[in-house]
Amino acid sequence: MFIRNCWYVAAWSHELPAGGIIARSIINEPLAIFRTEDGEIVVMADRCCHRAAPLSMGKLEGNEIRCAYHGFKFDHAGACTEIPGQDNVPAKARVATYPAIERHSWIWVWMGAAEKADPDLIPAACGFDDPRWNLRSGQMDYAANYLLINDNLTDFSHLSYVHVNSFGATEAWARSRPKITRLPRGIRVQRWLKSDDSNLKGVRSGGEELWSSYDFLVPGILLMRSASYDTGTSAALNGGEPGPDVPCHNENFTSQAVTALTDSTSRYFFSWGPRAGEGTDELAEILKGIAIMAFTEDRIIIEAQQRTLDQCQNFDMVLSSADVGPVQFRSVIEQLIKAEGGTARLRL
Ligand code: FES
Ligand SMILES: [Fe+2]
Repeated sequence: MFIRNCWYVAAWSHELPAGGIIARSIINEPLAIFRTEDGEIVVMADRCCHRAAPLSMGKLEGNEIRCAYHGFKFDHAGACTEIPGQDNVPAKARVATYPAIERHSWIWVWMGAAEKADPDLIPAACGFDDPRWNLRSGQMDYAANYLLINDNLTDFSHLSYVHVNSFGATEAWARSRPKITRLPRGIRVQRWLKSDDSNLKGVRSGGEELWSSYDFLVPGILLMRSASYDTGTSAALNGGEPGPDVPCHNENFTSQAVTALTDSTSRYFFSWGPRAGEGTDELAEILKGIAIMAFTEDRIIIEAQQRTLDQCQNFDMVLSSADVGPVQFRSVIEQLIKAEGGTARLRL
């Protein structure tokens, strides 16, 4: 059960050099992704209309792609332009193409109705060209349904137990409840953690307060700014959001994307880094190391969770008050699927 009218992150821009072809499934649909000679992204069904060989095994000829099996050639709009040994190319000889946009260092693909592909619906992630941040990136594959990863990212109470080694998180994460606000296509999660409680090693130093605020948007895009502030700031702001004029330390930003490859597999793309400036390269590398360690911790527990769920299809979850984020975000997805005319029951 997936939203179709939505931009999915298919790859990092740097994964696709000129002349390269990426084979990647998104919501169970195999795609071939390549660039025209001008560098524009082309995304088409990875299934030749002749006998279904993957076009990603073919080769690029200028702006066209030739199938590796019997040589049918297709232009960037998916129309067959040549059938070797035959003058007549039937009109129905074509493959589906998908709207695609390169933005924020990611390749975004619209999996729904092409006429609804609104570039303004692409979330405001930060790419490597953003002068504000010194970012490092990574990605990892999951043998798990995307909803379980979204649940994880909309409920940080797990930090206290899953991320003791990586983030050095204390029990404060599990014992506090963030403010959660519903957005048109997602939720906003914000919280203060007091001095000794937040303890995210590498991100903040002692004696301060940590503010974190993130938007989690369909289909699974997390955009989070965190920073530490002098003791007493949260009280002075009555627990509210600190504006840009409030002095902060260790400010950092992360963009993350959960992409459902198939029903049972997902890919997780992430970048993280401190505010750009002198001497932050070393810190950016430290954060990258922490991120890989932490996200591996997530993957291990989530894949194990998936395996137990696979053995018990009708499992009835017992929820806690920390599940507001996952419950609300699943509800957003469910409503959008229904608005497309689909059916979904995703409730926890
Ligand atoms: S399967 Fe592609 S040309 Fe035959
Ligand atoms: Fe986590």
